[in-house]
Amino acid sequence: MQVLGIDIGGSFIKGAVVSIETGQIVSERLQVVTPQPATPEAVIESVCHLVALFNWGGVVGCGFPAVIQGGVAKTAANIDASWVGVHVQELLEKKSGCHCFVVNDADAAGLAEIQFGQGKGRVGTVLTLTLGTGIGSALFFQGRLIPNLELGFLPLNEGVAEHYAAAAVKTKEGLSWQLWTQRLNVFLAQVERLLCPELIILGGGISSEHEMFFPYLQAQAEITPARFFNQAGIVGAACFASS
Ligand code: BGC
Repeated sequence: MQVLGIDIGGSFIKGAVVSIETGQIVSERLQVVTPQPATPEAVIESVCHLVALFNWGGVVGCGFPAVIQGGVAKTAANIDASWVGVHVQELLEKKSGCHCFVVNDADAAGLAEIQFGQGKGRVGTVLTLTLGTGIGSALFFQGRLIPNLELGFLPLNEGVAEHYAAAAVKTKEGLSWQLWTQRLNVFLAQVERLLCPELIILGGGISSEHEMFFPYLQAQAEITPARFFNQAGIVGAACFASS
């Protein structure tokens, strides 16, 4: 079975067709810029444009950068505030004409890693963190997801963790790899104190540059780049739609 996986991010909306038996991307990958302001109307229009580019009429799995409960967005950190309370799933189905499933974007990335990537076969506590515009988190125990964990909002440095250590902060503040990784280490220490994961998987765009910062990382847990790097959200959204 094939599902169109879509990952709505703070900067780009990306998509690809995924074989949910193997977790492999079986089409080209396409992306459009996330419209600003990222209002429901503008974002859904861009997603529908992407669906049309694939000439797709089948099932769509969509990762969304907010707490998602029963298809409804409950928060809006890096998207327009007007998303709060919007039934993302219903809106997407109505506008695209496809059967759609919506999940938190980091939960999607974690699902891909648990089913087909670095977390495959691991039964202990496995944490996937996505480092991008914000910090996403997905916690698994015995292969089961505890959804909507928002570790990016842990209090840190008189603010919240994602304003201190997300990948976008490195760019915005012009931090060196070493300085940014020091910030990430402060965040990881907090996370480890709270959750004691056995394995931490780091995803998001920056994970494809892991050679640049892994040497500076400090963690008690085993720590690894995501197998799917920045594609984990696409693959995982497709997996979610078929689960
Ligand atoms: C959101 C999370 C999301 C993460 C990564 C955060 O700002 O609150 O829900 O998973 O960004 O996109």
